[in-house]
Amino acid sequence: MLMRNKLFTIICLCLVVLSIYLFVTAPVELQAEAEPSEVFSVELAFQVLQLENSYAREIYTKEIVGTGNKQGMKFNEHWKNADLVAGLLPAQFLRETSRSLEQNPVLLGLFLGSDFAINSANNFEGDFLAVFEQLKEQLSPMFFYVEDAQRYAYLAPDVAIADPCVVCHNEHKDSPKTDWVLNDVMGAATWTYPKQHVTHTELLTMLAALRKGVSDAYQMVLDELLAQENPPVVGNKWPREGYYLPSLDEFNREIHLQSSAHILKLLMSADILITDKVKDNIDD
Ligand code: HEC
Repeated sequence: MLMRNKLFTIICLCLVVLSIYLFVTAPVELQAEAEPSEVFSVELAFQVLQLENSYAREIYTKEIVGTGNKQGMKFNEHWKNADLVAGLLPAQFLRETSRSLEQNPVLLGLFLGSDFAINSANNFEGDFLAVFEQLKEQLSPMFFYVEDAQRYAYLAPDVAIADPCVVCHNEHKDSPKTDWVLNDVMGAATWTYPKQHVTHTELLTMLAALRKGVSDAYQMVLDELLAQENPPVVGNKWPREGYYLPSLDEFNREIHLQSSAHILKLLMSADILITDKVKDNIDD
């Protein structure tokens, strides 16, 4: 009997020691996994996404619409009309990108807003309009929390980088402003997301969703421009080399090539990426 009691006591002691171990040691390890230093701020995620988006917008505007137009390719805001074979305007390219993002489970919002929009649906309102006014004064991106929508938002200036931006907007029948000049801030690429922090995996998922959106939009351009009687040759060549259009892979490759180095540089410069563990290694 005495032996049994002793055994029972020993087992109990073991259990106590084990539970102390579990409570004291294990949770520390679990906590370490969720340390804020191992996530990115959503502002940084927006900066990464906007970098990618700005390369896609610039390459599409200059290399496809601008140069393609000179080669005889047509781009028209009524590209959706069945009897019109034409590619998307740059702003519509961005809209189709954001439409693809809406279909994606990632809760990322993107739109191109303005205070003098051709399409009134693109007019900023409320908090967005107030922040856009500030952006025009400071000429820098703005990051803020939108109380009503319970979302974090990021506005990046969209600048009249070339004459066609100014000419087309000034001459458009629906434009409420007809005196745009080169380098004006014509609007802002506007991003929204519900969370303040994102994990590394979430950031990669967001970037993949954006890349898919850009890809989907460019596929629409290819579908339209290849439907004409004398379609351009599609492959590795670009309109600057003749009556050519880059294939989907080639178009994406060029954007990724230009954006990737900048994105990596941005991530490496972010303090928040460097966990204490990594810092120790660097200091050594
Ligand atoms: C050939 C005409 C044309 C060119 C060139 C053009 N745009 Fe636009 N832009 C439009 C049209 C049309 C819309 C409205 C599209 C829509 O329905 O959302 C628009 C929309 C926009 C918007 C959203 C607000 C609005 O006005 O509806 C911004 C910002 C904008 N363009 C900036 C630019 C910039 C910057 C450039 C040059 C890089 C440029 N645009 C080139 C025709 C043009």
